[in-house]
Amino acid sequence: MQSNASRNEKLHVGIIMDGNGRWATRRGLSRLRGHEAGVEAIRRVVEAAPKQGIGTLTLYAFSTDNWRRPKAEVAALMTLLRFYLANEVQSLVRNGVRLTVIGRRDRLPDGIANAITRAEDATAEGTTLHLRIAVDYSARDAILNAAAKAAALTSLTREAFSQLVTGEAGLRDVDLIIRTSGEKRLSDFLLWEGAYAELHFTERMWPEFDAGDLAAALASFHGRERRFGGLQAIVPEEVPSLSRV
Ligand code: FPP
Repeated sequence: MQSNASRNEKLHVGIIMDGNGRWATRRGLSRLRGHEAGVEAIRRVVEAAPKQGIGTLTLYAFSTDNWRRPKAEVAALMTLLRFYLANEVQSLVRNGVRLTVIGRRDRLPDGIANAITRAEDATAEGTTLHLRIAVDYSARDAILNAAAKAAALTSLTREAFSQLVTGEAGLRDVDLIIRTSGEKRLSDFLLWEGAYAELHFTERMWPEFDAGDLAAALASFHGRERRFGGLQAIVPEEVPSLSRV
């Protein structure tokens, strides 16, 4: 079977990091412990990703619907995010990782929005990996907000609309979305930029996910034939773009 993409082409992978709570409760631990172990998994995957041909990695850390969780769990997740931003930046810079955060910032607890901006500025020169963390994120809201901005424009291309949705010019479409813990849903993640993403579902709980699991997901991806609605396998760059939507 023909591979969907040359192995030299840097991929965009999205991950729905699911199963922290179940992993913890099955071990008699608090759910918070599961989220802490989830941060360890993030470290492993961020280190492994560039070595496995990933140029952009988008991680789903907190959805707009996650505000419905108990206050204590939301607070714990925000604290973990705060620690991550404070403690990880040096290592990200050292490893050439550019960090950006997608999603709403206006509802985050005091100081987190500023910490995000500082981390983004500090890592802006990174070229080894673009790490995007989705926080207070909803793909449908991102599309809706883009549509509201687009309403003022007289002409619109897919590329221009993509920039409004993603906040970035030239962001590569998502090649592969991985979801851990056996759940098989997209849960409002990357619905525009993942329109042709391949999907990989694994039973592995997020706190256990490691470089080998990432390699297995990529091996499955590279074995698939991507046709983008056509008849022959093609790579994304060869997809003729429509100038108007
Ligand atoms: C899903 O597991 C996971 C989340 C809602 C949060 C993911 C967060 C982290 C991995 C750590 C914090 C992130 C950063 C960037 C510091 P779940 O709790 O829904 O698991 P369950 O379905 O087993 O209950």
